[in-house]
Amino acid sequence: MNDLQTVVDDARAAFELATTPADLENTKAQYLGKSGRITEMMKGMATLPVEQKKTRGAAINLAKQAIEAALNARRLALADAELQAQLQAEALDVSLPGRQRGQGGLHPVSLTLERIEAIFGSMGFEVAQGPEIESDWFNFTALNTPEDHPARSMHDTFYVEGGTETAPNLLRTHTSPMQIRHAVQHVKRHRRQVEGNATAEGLFAGVMPEIRVIAPGRTYRVDSDATHSPMFHQCEGLWVGENVSFKDLKFVFTDFCRSFFESNDLVLRFRPSFFPFTEPSAEIDIQFSSGPLAGNWLEVAGSGQVHPNVIRNMGLDPERYIGFAFGMGPDRLTMLRYGVNDLRLFFDGDIRFLSQFR
Ligand code: DAH
Repeated sequence: MNDLQTVVDDARAAFELATTPADLENTKAQYLGKSGRITEMMKGMATLPVEQKKTRGAAINLAKQAIEAALNARRLALADAELQAQLQAEALDVSLPGRQRGQGGLHPVSLTLERIEAIFGSMGFEVAQGPEIESDWFNFTALNTPEDHPARSMHDTFYVEGGTETAPNLLRTHTSPMQIRHAVQHVKRHRRQVEGNATAEGLFAGVMPEIRVIAPGRTYRVDSDATHSPMFHQCEGLWVGENVSFKDLKFVFTDFCRSFFESNDLVLRFRPSFFPFTEPSAEIDIQFSSGPLAGNWLEVAGSGQVHPNVIRNMGLDPERYIGFAFGMGPDRLTMLRYGVNDLRLFFDGDIRFLSQFR
């Protein structure tokens, strides 16, 4: 029957147009619902003669089955589409490269400290570490620094609460206290050895091995601008023996600078200066003859011949022992080596800056 075929075709077309399950159920009602077209046709049979009722009923049933089949097919198709969409939305691209653990690297100042230790190590220097919270004695007094020295003032030194003259009461303003700490230990160790060997004659003539040490570390001063940070680094150097002179200082430091900057194109200048713990004292300046820094004298360290009072505070006889000391700034050396113009970059922790030194 033509009218039935039309209804089936209409239903199929309408189901195709439904894009969601809810849409589809609404459309279904137009055909199979209480007042849907098929239902209406069933009702319309009431007026037919009995013979026609049979054939009409069977035909309507076939049409209804065809519509139900189309409905179910569309239901499955929509459910499948929904599943596909969901899978797509939650898709994992397993071919994407994994999130890598970032590759770390040493801080530029650490690189410099490693270099300094390696170079001085090759010249027979030990490396010593000491406390950053220091006492007045080691930081100033033992280093021949007078009571009224300006460095002791609150303007330069961070004092901590609760300290006394001999107990830690300040943040060390330089690594120079390590001269005293290390020398005292060195002398003690030597004396113990001498006592231990007192009976083994000749084995130990009592000649103390030379003190040859560097002491790198953090230091603190009340200071902050593009070239000063309240926390900065220093590296102390000390060489004391019976026959160590300024000539050795000049040789050692020149050798160090040339190794550190990987250049023989540089000269050193020892500029007379003053430090309480050395006499005579000198600032060490370097000058490159080529490269971006050529022609400028750059200050890299303080130095001098260790003052007799300091030798005495090490527990040694200044009539017999003599030597030199120096204190340099690894931060400054790092800036010169890499062409960095603001010290604060080292301590800001900006990965973009730091990763350049990997
Ligand atoms: N401690 C000095 C400072 O912080 C640097 C220094 C100068 C260290 C001369 C020395 C030295 O060992 O001999 O400015």
